[in-house]
Amino acid sequence: MKRLKVMTVFGTRPEGIKMAPIIKELEKREDVESIICVTAQHREMLDQVLKIFDIEPDYDLNIFEPGQSLTKITTRALEGLERVIAKEKPDVLLVQGDTTTVFSGALAAFYQGVKVGHVEAGLRSGNIYSPYPEEANRMLTGILAEYHFCPTIRNKENLLRENYPEDKLYITGNTVIDALQYVVKDEYIFDNGLLNKIDYENKRVILLTSHRRENIGKAMENIFSAVNDIVNKYDDVEVVFPVHLNPRVREIAKGILGSNEKVHLIDPLDYEPFTNLMNRVYLVVTDSGGLQEEAPTLGKPVLVVREETERPEGIEAGTAKLVGTEYKSVYDNLDFLLSNEAEYTKMAKAVNPYGDGTAAKKIVDILLNAN
Ligand code: UD1
Ligand code: UDP
Repeated sequence: MKRLKVMTVFGTRPEGIKMAPIIKELEKREDVESIICVTAQHREMLDQVLKIFDIEPDYDLNIFEPGQSLTKITTRALEGLERVIAKEKPDVLLVQGDTTTVFSGALAAFYQGVKVGHVEAGLRSGNIYSPYPEEANRMLTGILAEYHFCPTIRNKENLLRENYPEDKLYITGNTVIDALQYVVKDEYIFDNGLLNKIDYENKRVILLTSHRRENIGKAMENIFSAVNDIVNKYDDVEVVFPVHLNPRVREIAKGILGSNEKVHLIDPLDYEPFTNLMNRVYLVVTDSGGLQEEAPTLGKPVLVVREETERPEGIEAGTAKLVGTEYKSVYDNLDFLLSNEAEYTKMAKAVNPYGDGTAAKKIVDILLNAN
């Protein structure tokens, strides 16, 4: 029997998390040969994910450099992938999401005539500069792909509007839900002293994350200042902020929030403690893509500190609110949510617009049926 050779390519933390369930599924199948190649666009933050999901890459391009430019990431990934693809000659190459690794992976495969499967296809904010450069990456990847695995019906509709042929579009749910089900447990105990000590019953804990390139600068200063002032207004509110390793983000975070005793600035957490922390907190403030999917699933209100989102499903379901990046809007929305119990209860309902935890299985079944 000829086995289908599937190469998964990923490079950053969120790609790793969302690709992991697919890798686990590929490895279960006897009719598949699974090859894993990481670009390591991220280093420490990717290694955390590989460890949690117990994934050993066959190839590690180790392209990471502190302060890397988009051009550097693209060229180093393209060159490294050219060699690996030429050697392995996979039948299909899978990429996940919208990072520079994703676009480079799709382009490298396309250059060698390898079919591309795009996981998390069809997300659109409608603004090529926001998120930057992700909106462009996902559009460019779509053009190069043969299989488009759309998390939701809206994602499929976006691609239909761009004249993609319907028989190449598959609605699968988002593999982030598969990953979440793998790690979140109500009885989870943190091995981090601080996270175990926090009184989640009597304090209202806000989980904050922010890393988007287009927010770095004034927007991030606004967001952090608003959070700082809200914490000072409410005695029972604390913040946990696992700060992305980007030094530009760390500098702004430390400058504005570093001396507030009720704000805990910590290093990025492993996926398991991070999602279990999310499961305990009162609400989430973020510009992350993945968190916008996880928070609604866990029934946590989420204020999205961005100007646009490509994930309107959480907003339509009422658990997420797009509040922008102006100081006043972030402050007022937090203030409203913290002082209005009815509003909080309305938003704190678990909804699952992003799938039922079977996305990875669906994706692998589709690939096997089509080849
Ligand atoms: C990248 C993706 C973004 C994704 C995010 C997830 C691109 C252009 N951006 O953004 O879509 O949402 O990952 O987190 O693909 N750093 C470290 N160690 C790490 C990772 C990052 O020190 O393990 C620091 C480095 O100084 C690096 C900087 O963070 O230069 C930025 O990393 P980079 O991958 O370029 O962009 P992200 O902002 O992480
Ligand atoms: N995450 C994590 N540890 C952290 C912060 C986030 O494991 O300290 C996870 C989170 O659960 C989500 C993913 O990382 O699955 C989101 O990554 P990020 O916000 O960096 O990227 P985005 O989703 O915006 O591309």
